[in-house]
Amino acid sequence: MRRALYPGSFDPITKGHVDIVRRALDVVDELVIAIAVNIRKTPTFSPEDRVQMIRECFPGEARITVATFQGLLVDYAREQKIRTVVRGLRAVSDFEFEFQMASMNRRLTDEVDFIFLMTSEEHFFVSSSLVREVAINGGDVSDFVPEPVERRLRARFAS
Ligand code: COA
Repeated sequence: MRRALYPGSFDPITKGHVDIVRRALDVVDELVIAIAVNIRKTPTFSPEDRVQMIRECFPGEARITVATFQGLLVDYAREQKIRTVVRGLRAVSDFEFEFQMASMNRRLTDEVDFIFLMTSEEHFFVSSSLVREVAINGGDVSDFVPEPVERRLRARFAS
């Protein structure tokens, strides 16, 4: 049974992330979507809201678990006895950051390895902060986020 971790801020989850989740489920049996809770950041959505939104994006998908973690990713992976971390690549610019992060994580432990999946072309430019920016200014984000997220964004920024 191959289990993998897909970590991120997911503030909020976008269709680009959903695309990576779908691709990951083609290569692993179970995926833990792990929301990193950074106490130094002020997120738009609380960890609980983010968990809820992600769950609503994958109704009835028994192979997905949604969790939150604090601290180092490699410590959480070890705690969960997971040796594979999935990351999405959108553009060449992502590669540099991912390469740096994977290299640092590898220095921290050799028990965890990274696999990188390419995001579909139509989502190359999507990021959570751009989606928030469009939503704040009353734009239509339905092409970029799943319906449960769109609904939450509309409610959050209605005024
Ligand atoms: N589709 C759409 N958007 C995507 C995407 C995809 N496939 N992949 C990433 N993004 C977006 C994210 O929404 C995010 O957007 P934002 O910056 O506008 O919010 C941006 O690209 C960066 O995403 P990502 O690189 O995944 O950063 P993150 O903050 O979501 O996650 C962690 C980074 C949580 C994995 C990393 O900080 C971590 O491991 N933290 C734990 C502490 C730790 O171990 N640190 C040491 C690391 S060496």
